[in-house]
Amino acid sequence: MCPPDFYGIEYEINPWMDLRRPADPARARAQWRALYEVLTKTLGVRVELLSPVKGLPDLVFTANAGLVVPGRFIASRFLHPERQKEQPTYDAWFRARGYAIETLPEGTCFEGEGDALWLGETLFAGYRIRSDIGSHQAVAAMLGCEVLSLELVDPRFYHLDTCFCPLDDRRALYYPPAFDDYGRRVIREFVPEPIAVADVDALRFACNAVVVGRDIVVQSGCAALEKTLRDQGFTPHPVDLSEFHKAGGSAKCLTLWVPPPPRSTSRRSVGAP
Ligand code: ARG
Repeated sequence: MCPPDFYGIEYEINPWMDLRRPADPARARAQWRALYEVLTKTLGVRVELLSPVKGLPDLVFTANAGLVVPGRFIASRFLHPERQKEQPTYDAWFRARGYAIETLPEGTCFEGEGDALWLGETLFAGYRIRSDIGSHQAVAAMLGCEVLSLELVDPRFYHLDTCFCPLDDRRALYYPPAFDDYGRRVIREFVPEPIAVADVDALRFACNAVVVGRDIVVQSGCAALEKTLRDQGFTPHPVDLSEFHKAGGSAKCLTLWVPPPPRSTSRRSVGAP
Protein backbone atom coordinates (compact mmCIF):
# COMPACT_ATOMS: atom_id res chain seq x y z
CA MET A 1 0.00 0.00 0.00
CA CYS A 2 1.03 3.61 -0.45
CA PRO A 3 -0.08 6.30 2.01
CA PRO A 4 -2.20 9.05 0.42
CA ASP A 5 0.07 12.01 1.33
CA PHE A 6 -0.01 13.31 -2.25
CA TYR A 7 -3.33 11.78 -3.33
CA GLY A 8 -5.74 14.08 -5.15
CA ILE A 9 -7.79 14.60 -8.29
CA GLU A 10 -5.32 16.33 -10.59
CA TYR A 11 -6.49 15.04 -13.98
CA GLU A 12 -9.43 13.13 -15.45
CA ILE A 13 -8.70 9.71 -16.92
CA ASN A 14 -11.90 7.86 -16.04
CA PRO A 15 -15.56 8.89 -15.67
CA TRP A 16 -15.35 9.11 -11.87
CA MET A 17 -12.66 11.77 -11.89
CA ASP A 18 -13.84 15.38 -12.02
CA LEU A 19 -11.46 18.25 -11.33
CA ARG A 20 -14.39 20.13 -9.80
CA ARG A 21 -14.79 17.37 -7.21
CA PRO A 22 -11.49 17.38 -5.32
CA ALA A 23 -10.64 14.88 -2.64
CA ASP A 24 -10.58 16.01 0.98
CA PRO A 25 -7.01 15.23 2.14
CA ALA A 26 -7.84 14.75 5.84
CA ARG A 27 -10.76 12.45 5.10
CA ALA A 28 -8.74 10.51 2.54
CA ARG A 29 -5.97 10.01 5.08
CA ALA A 30 -8.43 8.79 7.74
CA GLN A 31 -10.18 6.43 5.31
CA TRP A 32 -6.89 4.99 4.05
CA ARG A 33 -5.76 4.54 7.65
CA ALA A 34 -8.97 2.65 8.48
CA LEU A 35 -8.33 0.27 5.58
CA TYR A 36 -4.72 -0.19 6.71
CA GLU A 37 -5.83 -0.96 10.26
CA VAL A 38 -8.49 -3.49 9.28
CA LEU A 39 -5.90 -5.29 7.18
CA THR A 40 -3.04 -5.18 9.65
CA LYS A 41 -4.77 -5.23 13.05
CA THR A 42 -8.09 -7.01 12.53
CA LEU A 43 -6.92 -9.46 9.88
CA GLY A 44 -3.21 -9.72 10.67
CA VAL A 45 -2.09 -9.09 7.10
CA ARG A 46 1.51 -7.98 6.67
CA VAL A 47 1.40 -4.74 4.71
CA GLU A 48 4.54 -3.28 3.13
CA LEU A 49 4.51 0.41 2.31
CA LEU A 50 5.64 2.33 -0.72
CA SER A 51 6.75 5.92 -0.03
CA PRO A 52 4.38 8.46 -1.54
CA VAL A 53 5.77 10.77 -4.21
CA LYS A 54 4.70 14.36 -4.81
CA GLY A 55 3.16 14.80 -8.25
CA LEU A 56 1.95 11.19 -8.44
CA PRO A 57 -1.60 11.45 -7.03
CA ASP A 58 -2.67 7.97 -8.19
CA LEU A 59 0.35 6.17 -6.73
CA VAL A 60 -1.97 5.12 -3.88
CA PHE A 61 -3.59 2.68 -6.32
CA THR A 62 -0.81 0.15 -6.02
CA ALA A 63 -2.93 -2.62 -7.60
CA ASN A 64 -1.93 -1.08 -10.92
CA ALA A 65 1.82 -1.36 -10.32
CA GLY A 66 2.02 -4.73 -12.02
CA LEU A 67 1.48 -8.39 -11.32
CA VAL A 68 3.60 -10.10 -8.70
CA VAL A 69 4.45 -13.79 -8.54
CA PRO A 70 7.12 -15.18 -6.21
CA GLY A 71 10.42 -13.47 -7.06
CA ARG A 72 9.07 -11.80 -10.20
CA PHE A 73 7.45 -8.45 -10.83
CA ILE A 74 5.69 -8.08 -14.18
CA ALA A 75 5.64 -4.31 -14.53
CA SER A 76 2.61 -2.49 -15.88
CA ARG A 77 2.61 -0.36 -18.98
CA PHE A 78 0.06 2.33 -18.24
CA LEU A 79 -2.19 3.70 -20.95
CA HIS A 80 -2.19 7.28 -19.69
CA PRO A 81 0.98 9.41 -19.61
CA GLU A 82 -0.16 10.75 -16.20
CA ARG A 83 0.21 7.28 -14.71
CA GLN A 84 3.21 6.16 -16.79
CA LYS A 85 5.22 8.43 -14.50
CA GLU A 86 4.51 6.06 -11.58
CA GLN A 87 6.29 3.07 -13.07
CA PRO A 88 9.90 3.90 -12.06
CA THR A 89 8.77 4.17 -8.43
CA TYR A 90 7.16 0.73 -8.46
CA ASP A 91 10.10 -0.81 -10.31
CA ALA A 92 12.56 0.63 -7.79
CA TRP A 93 10.57 -0.81 -4.87
CA PHE A 94 10.65 -4.31 -6.31
CA ARG A 95 14.24 -4.07 -7.56
CA ALA A 96 15.41 -3.05 -4.07
CA ARG A 97 13.79 -6.21 -2.71
CA GLY A 98 15.46 -8.54 -5.15
CA TYR A 99 12.61 -9.17 -7.57
CA ALA A 100 13.32 -9.74 -11.24
CA ILE A 101 11.61 -6.88 -13.11
CA GLU A 102 9.95 -8.20 -16.25
CA THR A 103 8.56 -5.94 -18.93
CA LEU A 104 5.93 -6.44 -21.59
CA PRO A 105 6.50 -5.64 -25.25
CA GLU A 106 6.57 -1.92 -25.93
CA GLY A 107 3.26 -0.46 -27.06
CA THR A 108 1.22 -3.05 -25.16
CA CYS A 109 -0.79 -1.57 -22.30
CA PHE A 110 -1.19 -3.59 -19.14
CA GLU A 111 -2.40 -2.18 -15.82
CA GLY A 112 -1.33 -4.95 -13.47
CA GLU A 113 -3.59 -6.49 -10.90
CA GLY A 114 -6.23 -3.91 -11.77
CA ASP A 115 -6.83 -6.01 -14.88
CA ALA A 116 -5.51 -9.43 -13.86
CA LEU A 117 -6.95 -11.54 -11.06
CA TRP A 118 -6.34 -15.19 -10.17
CA LEU A 119 -9.13 -17.66 -9.70
CA GLY A 120 -7.33 -20.82 -8.74
CA GLU A 121 -4.64 -21.38 -11.39
CA THR A 122 -6.39 -19.29 -14.03
CA LEU A 123 -5.69 -15.64 -14.61
CA PHE A 124 -8.85 -13.69 -15.47
CA ALA A 125 -7.83 -10.59 -17.36
CA GLY A 126 -9.74 -7.50 -18.49
CA TYR A 127 -9.02 -5.62 -21.68
CA ARG A 128 -9.99 -2.83 -24.03
CA ILE A 129 -10.52 0.19 -21.77
CA ARG A 130 -7.01 0.10 -20.22
CA SER A 131 -5.05 -3.12 -20.82
CA ASP A 132 -4.66 -4.49 -24.34
CA ILE A 133 -5.72 -8.04 -25.11
CA GLY A 134 -2.21 -8.65 -26.47
CA SER A 135 -0.78 -8.12 -22.99
CA HIS A 136 -2.72 -11.16 -21.83
CA GLN A 137 -0.93 -13.43 -24.29
CA ALA A 138 2.41 -11.97 -23.20
CA VAL A 139 1.64 -12.50 -19.50
CA ALA A 140 0.40 -16.05 -20.19
CA ALA A 141 3.66 -16.85 -21.99
CA MET A 142 5.77 -15.31 -19.20
CA LEU A 143 3.98 -17.20 -16.44
CA GLY A 144 3.05 -20.33 -18.32
CA CYS A 145 -0.52 -20.03 -17.13
CA GLU A 146 -3.97 -20.04 -18.66
CA VAL A 147 -5.44 -16.59 -19.20
CA LEU A 148 -9.10 -15.89 -19.88
CA SER A 149 -9.64 -12.51 -21.48
CA LEU A 150 -12.77 -10.55 -20.63
CA GLU A 151 -13.77 -7.48 -22.59
CA LEU A 152 -14.86 -4.52 -20.44
CA VAL A 153 -17.65 -2.49 -22.02
CA ASP A 154 -18.66 0.17 -19.45
CA PRO A 155 -16.16 3.04 -19.00
CA ARG A 156 -17.14 3.35 -15.33
CA PHE A 157 -15.84 -0.20 -14.81
CA TYR A 158 -12.60 0.37 -16.66
CA HIS A 159 -10.47 -2.12 -14.72
CA LEU A 160 -11.43 -5.74 -14.13
CA ASP A 161 -11.07 -5.27 -10.38
CA THR A 162 -13.96 -2.78 -10.41
CA CYS A 163 -16.41 -5.45 -11.65
CA PHE A 164 -14.92 -8.88 -10.87
CA CYS A 165 -13.59 -10.26 -7.60
CA PRO A 166 -12.48 -13.86 -7.05
CA LEU A 167 -13.41 -14.96 -3.51
CA ASP A 168 -11.77 -18.39 -3.58
CA ASP A 169 -11.08 -20.93 -6.30
CA ARG A 170 -14.79 -21.55 -6.98
CA ARG A 171 -16.55 -18.27 -6.35
CA ALA A 172 -16.26 -14.76 -7.75
CA LEU A 173 -18.33 -11.61 -7.50
CA TYR A 174 -19.08 -9.94 -10.81
CA TYR A 175 -21.18 -7.10 -12.15
CA PRO A 176 -22.85 -8.47 -15.29
CA PRO A 177 -23.45 -5.15 -17.16
CA ALA A 178 -19.71 -4.40 -17.13
CA PHE A 179 -19.17 -7.27 -19.61
CA ASP A 180 -20.58 -8.12 -23.01
CA ASP A 181 -22.70 -11.23 -23.60
CA TYR A 182 -19.70 -13.31 -24.44
CA GLY A 183 -17.76 -12.17 -21.34
CA ARG A 184 -20.72 -13.05 -19.15
CA ARG A 185 -20.82 -16.45 -20.81
CA VAL A 186 -17.12 -17.00 -20.14
CA ILE A 187 -17.59 -16.06 -16.48
CA ARG A 188 -20.55 -18.41 -16.10
CA GLU A 189 -18.68 -21.20 -17.82
CA PHE A 190 -15.31 -20.90 -16.07
CA VAL A 191 -16.26 -19.63 -12.60
CA PRO A 192 -17.94 -22.58 -10.87
CA GLU A 193 -20.12 -20.32 -8.69
CA PRO A 194 -20.38 -16.76 -10.03
CA ILE A 195 -22.18 -14.28 -7.77
CA ALA A 196 -23.84 -11.33 -9.51
CA VAL A 197 -23.63 -7.98 -7.72
CA ALA A 198 -26.56 -5.50 -7.92
CA ASP A 199 -26.24 -2.08 -9.59
CA VAL A 200 -26.38 -0.05 -6.39
CA ASP A 201 -23.58 -2.04 -4.79
CA ALA A 202 -21.46 -2.23 -7.95
CA LEU A 203 -21.65 1.55 -8.29
CA ARG A 204 -20.27 1.80 -4.76
CA PHE A 205 -17.28 -0.30 -5.83
CA ALA A 206 -18.55 -3.42 -4.04
CA CYS A 207 -16.53 -5.63 -6.41
CA ASN A 208 -13.35 -3.77 -5.53
CA ALA A 209 -12.93 -5.82 -2.36
CA VAL A 210 -9.83 -7.21 -0.67
CA VAL A 211 -10.09 -10.94 0.00
CA VAL A 212 -8.15 -12.35 2.95
CA GLY A 213 -9.22 -15.97 3.26
CA ARG A 214 -12.84 -15.86 4.47
CA ASP A 215 -12.61 -12.18 5.39
CA ILE A 216 -13.64 -9.62 2.80
CA VAL A 217 -12.80 -5.94 3.17
CA VAL A 218 -15.43 -4.08 1.23
CA GLN A 219 -16.83 -0.58 0.79
CA SER A 220 -19.35 0.23 3.55
CA GLY A 221 -23.04 0.59 2.74
CA CYS A 222 -23.23 -2.37 0.33
CA ALA A 223 -26.02 -4.02 2.28
CA ALA A 224 -27.10 -6.64 -0.27
CA LEU A 225 -23.55 -7.72 -0.90
CA GLU A 226 -22.75 -7.98 2.81
CA LYS A 227 -25.72 -10.28 3.24
CA THR A 228 -24.71 -12.42 0.27
CA LEU A 229 -21.18 -12.71 1.63
CA ARG A 230 -22.42 -13.75 5.06
CA ASP A 231 -24.81 -16.31 3.54
CA GLN A 232 -21.83 -17.76 1.66
CA GLY A 233 -19.79 -18.12 4.84
CA PHE A 234 -17.60 -15.03 4.46
CA THR A 235 -17.18 -12.19 6.95
CA PRO A 236 -17.51 -8.72 5.45
CA HIS A 237 -15.42 -5.90 6.96
CA PRO A 238 -16.96 -2.64 5.73
CA VAL A 239 -14.71 0.40 5.31
CA ASP A 240 -15.73 3.76 3.84
CA LEU A 241 -13.39 4.73 1.02
CA SER A 242 -15.59 7.36 -0.60
CA GLU A 243 -12.71 9.83 -1.02
CA PHE A 244 -11.00 7.32 -3.29
CA HIS A 245 -14.15 6.73 -5.32
CA LYS A 246 -13.60 10.26 -6.61
CA ALA A 247 -10.55 8.88 -8.43
CA GLY A 248 -12.33 5.70 -9.49
CA GLY A 249 -10.95 3.30 -6.91
CA SER A 250 -11.69 1.57 -3.63
CA ALA A 251 -10.21 -1.07 -1.31
CA LYS A 252 -8.73 -3.49 -3.85
CA CYS A 253 -7.16 -0.76 -5.97
CA LEU A 254 -5.38 0.53 -2.88
CA THR A 255 -3.58 -2.77 -2.41
CA LEU A 256 -1.30 -5.00 -4.44
CA TRP A 257 -0.92 -8.68 -3.63
CA VAL A 258 2.74 -9.43 -2.96
CA PRO A 259 3.28 -13.16 -2.49
CA PRO A 260 5.95 -14.25 -0.05
CA PRO A 261 9.45 -14.67 -1.52
CA PRO A 262 9.96 -18.01 -3.25
CA ARG A 263 10.80 -20.91 -1.02
CA SER A 264 9.40 -23.52 -3.34
CA THR A 265 8.00 -23.17 -6.84
CA SER A 266 4.42 -23.56 -5.60
CA ARG A 267 2.03 -20.94 -6.93
CA ARG A 268 0.02 -18.59 -4.75
CA SER A 269 -3.51 -19.49 -3.77
CA VAL A 270 -6.13 -16.84 -4.24
CA GLY A 271 -7.08 -14.77 -1.25
CA ALA A 272 -5.11 -16.78 1.27
CA PRO A 273 -2.05 -14.79 2.36
N1 ARG B 1 -7.42 7.20 -11.00
C1 ARG B 1 -6.90 5.88 -11.18
C2 ARG B 1 -6.95 5.53 -12.66
O1 ARG B 1 -7.88 5.92 -13.31
C3 ARG B 1 -7.66 4.89 -10.37
C4 ARG B 1 -7.11 3.50 -10.44
C5 ARG B 1 -7.95 2.49 -9.73
N2 ARG B 1 -7.31 1.25 -9.72
C6 ARG B 1 -7.87 0.05 -9.97
N3 ARG B 1 -7.15 -1.02 -9.83
N4 ARG B 1 -9.10 -0.07 -10.38
O2 ARG B 1 -6.07 4.89 -13.19
